[in-house]
Amino acid sequence: MALESNPVSIELADIQGLLIRGYGQLPICRFLLLQIEDAAAVRKWLHSLVPQVTAATQFNKKHALNIAFTCEGLKAIGLADENVDNFPISFRQGMATEWRQRILGDFGESAPQNWRWGGADEHWEPVQQPHILLAMYGMDQEQLDQLFHIQRGFIQESRGFKILYQQDGYRREDSKENFGFHDSISQPVIKGSGRKNVPGTNIVATGEFVLGYLNEHNLYPYSPLISLPQGNINLLSPDANGSGLKDLGRNGTFLVYRLMQQHVKEFKAFSREKTLNQDGKPEPEAQIKLEAKMVGRWPSGAPLVKFPDSDPGGSSDDNDFNYSATDPYGFRCPLGSHLRRNNPRDSFRNLKPEQSLKITRRHRIIRRGRLYKTPEVAKVENAEEVGLHFFGINANIAQQFEFIQHVWANNDQPNKHTLSGDPDPIIGVPNADTPGPRPNRFTIQQEPVAKCIDGLQRFVTIRAGAYFFMPGIAGLRFLTTLGSRVEGASDR
Ligand code: HEM
Repeated sequence: MALESNPVSIELADIQGLLIRGYGQLPICRFLLLQIEDAAAVRKWLHSLVPQVTAATQFNKKHALNIAFTCEGLKAIGLADENVDNFPISFRQGMATEWRQRILGDFGESAPQNWRWGGADEHWEPVQQPHILLAMYGMDQEQLDQLFHIQRGFIQESRGFKILYQQDGYRREDSKENFGFHDSISQPVIKGSGRKNVPGTNIVATGEFVLGYLNEHNLYPYSPLISLPQGNINLLSPDANGSGLKDLGRNGTFLVYRLMQQHVKEFKAFSREKTLNQDGKPEPEAQIKLEAKMVGRWPSGAPLVKFPDSDPGGSSDDNDFNYSATDPYGFRCPLGSHLRRNNPRDSFRNLKPEQSLKITRRHRIIRRGRLYKTPEVAKVENAEEVGLHFFGINANIAQQFEFIQHVWANNDQPNKHTLSGDPDPIIGVPNADTPGPRPNRFTIQQEPVAKCIDGLQRFVTIRAGAYFFMPGIAGLRFLTTLGSRVEGASDR
């Protein structure tokens, strides 16, 4: 364990709480997706909302509220095109484009043409695009309902919106996701966020997650600057990089939202079938072991690299490990497991551990996922749909979320890194309609010969998604002034 060295001072009071906290003490939540119909009415609504938005310094044990905008949402609230153009291209284009489909692997059932919101039609024209994400969290149903009814009242009174979608999310007491594995253990720790006694290799430069601070390249991440003065730009801080322009991005971040259905029955049937004994009978222990090999942790959360043979049980949030010293060849935790694929830590072949860590620190995300159930769909399809509201927080969508999904999870080419030639068994297996060859296998490295599990199916379907910008509190205040006369232009 190492104490955080070389501390950075970050403006926590200006940062929305969700960036810094997972709201573990607020297990239930409701996500509202809104479309803006009247910009002036929405700016007025936002003006009253800002004081209620939970900042990273506020620790409310009962509820929390955070807000984020898509690119369409920023345009709809009145941000001028010239300023919108200063956002990074991945955010401006959004998740549902033809070439991003190839990067993210969203084919077949997962194609944006089939999404519930955030998708596209057959000509790649946007369909059901959300503008605003309002994320509400409560310590219990009563607190959540109270917050929701108050907020829905304000939304209706404003007459500025259409409610596009509403869905609940939750966190189980044992923190397990729907396949039965303890989740949300491994998170990068933001330098300067004040957390101490974390494994030193897990501390990541502030600018990998918060705009306006130095990142792992020792550079300021690409941040949306205001090049065409509008509204009250005096509310914004100057660009830390010294351009003289005001920075709408400072203390904000990007939030990747993917609604991911989990096919639990199929996942369990696959692991069961692949571990039948010679008499064709199920072997429950072998079944769990195969699933654990695919994930990289046991159901308890215990990492395979430390416990390769069996689950020590209980509940583990052990994240103090690397791979190069104890498991360079994947004999304990397979090279193709979800855990190693999404964070190879110190184990790139041909690189020293420190060099590997330097690379992986540039491709981390903070995960703030919550589970969902869809009873309405259950009624229609006669089956209960379960899944994950995947929230990935990063300062650079292309270098972080998209890189992880494309280069590490979906990449089934044998390569010189230690990732093996299999797709990520949880999120990278190509859909049946994906163009190109599809190896669809999972390899368990062992001696004397590796074991190959063939016929890997896709156990996750993308049902919706969008890229959001979660501004800092000052950025939110600035957005409320977009309709007013330009103030502070002379400060440029
Ligand atoms: C239904 C979809 C998913 C399921 C069921 C799932 C499940 C899990 C589980 C059980 C863990 C181990 C717990 C932990 O270390 O925190 C984990 C870790 C992780 N997952 Fe996922 N995950 C899903 C989607 C994704 C996606 C879409 C990404 C990113 C593109 C992702 C990235 C990660 C990362 C970065 C880690 C931590 C790896 C580490 O630092 O060692 N996951 N996931």
